[in-house]
Amino acid sequence: VSDVEVIGRIAELTAWAARQRGAGRTVGLVPTMGALHDGHAALVARAAAECDVVVTTVFVNPLQFAAGEDLAAYPRDLDRDVAVAAAGGATVVFAPAVEEMYPGEVATTVRVSGLTEVLDGLARPGHFDGVATVVAKLFAMVGACRAYFGEKDFQQLAVVRRMAADLSFPVVVVGCPTVRAPDGLALSSRNAYLTAEERLAAPVLHRALAAGAEAVAGGERDPAAVVAAISEVVAAEPLVALESADVVDAATLRAPGRLSGELRLLVAAKVGRARLIDNVGAHAGPGS
Ligand code: PAF
Repeated sequence: VSDVEVIGRIAELTAWAARQRGAGRTVGLVPTMGALHDGHAALVARAAAECDVVVTTVFVNPLQFAAGEDLAAYPRDLDRDVAVAAAGGATVVFAPAVEEMYPGEVATTVRVSGLTEVLDGLARPGHFDGVATVVAKLFAMVGACRAYFGEKDFQQLAVVRRMAADLSFPVVVVGCPTVRAPDGLALSSRNAYLTAEERLAAPVLHRALAAGAEAVAGGERDPAAVVAAISEVVAAEPLVALESADVVDAATLRAPGRLSGELRLLVAAKVGRARLIDNVGAHAGPGS
């Protein structure tokens, strides 16, 4: 029921974007790996509200998966993705084959130092290089645009912002709030891996982050105490194995000795075969 055009060639995407700008239209870009859920739909809808035309990209990027991760199992359903993108207001879906994006060995990799050796970068070495490389390619293909990314992947958003600035891409990177299920679970394509029982357990991650944010709001300025508050909540849920809990400066992603200013509280956990991440913001004002 959609008149969304699906294109698979880089040259077509570049020509489409140039044509749009030539006609005086602003271009929105929503990069995804498919398996679109309401969080992605919100990104597309925001892009459609702020831009004249929107391209949603659907590409499961092998470069950002380490050996042993879920590249092969990652959910793929292009027809459904096209329908979700169309319903959100996308104009075009770019769904290239792996050979189109990476026709040969990849000799050039984009690495954003500083922001990628911490947090999930420690648990997933090379992951953010893969993300930065594919997003740089998409930015190069599309050209001047506004590009929309969810805050659920907070570190990814910081990496992409920095990459776009450092490489002078004519792209405005727009961060969008995490979309949550009514019970607090952050929407993620990887939630599809959860059994019914695990799905009921998974919202503990958001409750734990809320407990951490509450501790900060209550005046706690010791990062270790906030991490302990988060960990304690997760520990009460046997189906959720916490991998990491961190409190960092929201801009630098570095752990401060004492909490002040804009902070981000982040968790990563294994729930069954899913590895889930989530985060919330907190503000540590002066005087507490
Ligand atoms: O967030 C994602 O889905 C991916 O990391 C992205 C930004 C599309 C790059 O492959």
